[in-house]
Amino acid sequence: MAKSEDKEEEKKKTEGEAKLTDIPGIGPGIAAKLEAAGVYDLMGLAVMSPVSLSDMAGVGEAVARKAIQAARGMLNLGFSDGMEFAKKRENVFFITTGSKNLNGLLGGRGVETGALTEAYGAFGSGKTQLGLTLAVNVQLPKEHGGANGKAVFIDTEGTFRPDRIRQIAEGVGANPEKVLKNILVARAFNSDHQILLLDKINEMIRDGEPIKLIIIDSLTAHFRAEFAGRGMLADRQQKLNRYLHNLMKAAEQHNLAIFVTNQVMANPAMMFGDPTTAVGGNIVGHASTYRLYLRRGKQGSRVAKMIDSPNLPENEAMFYLTGKGIRDEQDG
Ligand code: GTP
Ligand code: MG
Repeated sequence: MAKSEDKEEEKKKTEGEAKLTDIPGIGPGIAAKLEAAGVYDLMGLAVMSPVSLSDMAGVGEAVARKAIQAARGMLNLGFSDGMEFAKKRENVFFITTGSKNLNGLLGGRGVETGALTEAYGAFGSGKTQLGLTLAVNVQLPKEHGGANGKAVFIDTEGTFRPDRIRQIAEGVGANPEKVLKNILVARAFNSDHQILLLDKINEMIRDGEPIKLIIIDSLTAHFRAEFAGRGMLADRQQKLNRYLHNLMKAAEQHNLAIFVTNQVMANPAMMFGDPTTAVGGNIVGHASTYRLYLRRGKQGSRVAKMIDSPNLPENEAMFYLTGKGIRDEQDG
């Protein structure tokens, strides 16, 4: 009881954003209905369809449509004090991917703290290998591209491989057993469990664990499996949105990096080009600071494309999946 009140307080303090009731057509009564149904913020509202909002809140569809549009409009209106922003940036550090090319694509030094990096792509494109490599590299000293920290690996698909970690650790000249000890692995059995694990992580950090990287492999698989069918899409997106929101909050509060993997699905609306699109669509895209699309390249290489970033151009980088993890050169 007291704990959930604390959480509410914390939420109010850290968000300071526009509220549901700031939207024209949404009074306290409707806001309460929405909150009871799991829509807590503008992002939750922005991703709804007019029909489902109309049903949920008992308003006409025209009012619902206007409210959704207003929420979408207001989401782009967050300003941040320039000095405050610059100060935050000073504390940011980077975790090397093991590849200069891929680091370069990410702005020069790798995966950034206080940010969420998403890698999506087909099976075998290297998402898990990148996650495993980062779990090792975060433990390196800062001058070698690490953060002297521990990693949390949330495994939804049973893909965590201690043997691979040992191999990658040897590749950077680290003690394999020590490296394994500094990776806290949890198997998430369903989306609720996956969400719950974030509370646990926050707790461990408060207890002094120097966690500097959270890997979620995969972010969306459980959500996708549990919320099958079109009728459940809005519910799924809301739950995912809340989760992403809390992940970003953890990244900012604890100055840690978050790396998530995501699947692709065929996009029937797209006639030309790469017919694949990331699961979770706009919601995940909106929450990710950096979005990488991974695919197989020529002669066993992999290609990463920067899809969406606040300050980086849409470039491509080539890398290899090697015995030692992610590298610029193929195994010799
Ligand atoms: P899904 O999870 O199935 O969607 O794919 P993913 O994108 O996570 O693929 P993953 O990162 O697991 O990449 C698998 C590929 O990594 C394999 O096809 C191999 O090419 C490569 N790989 C995995 N282990 C090793 C290794 O020990 N040595 C080398 N050279 N390559 C490896
Ligand atoms: Mg994988």
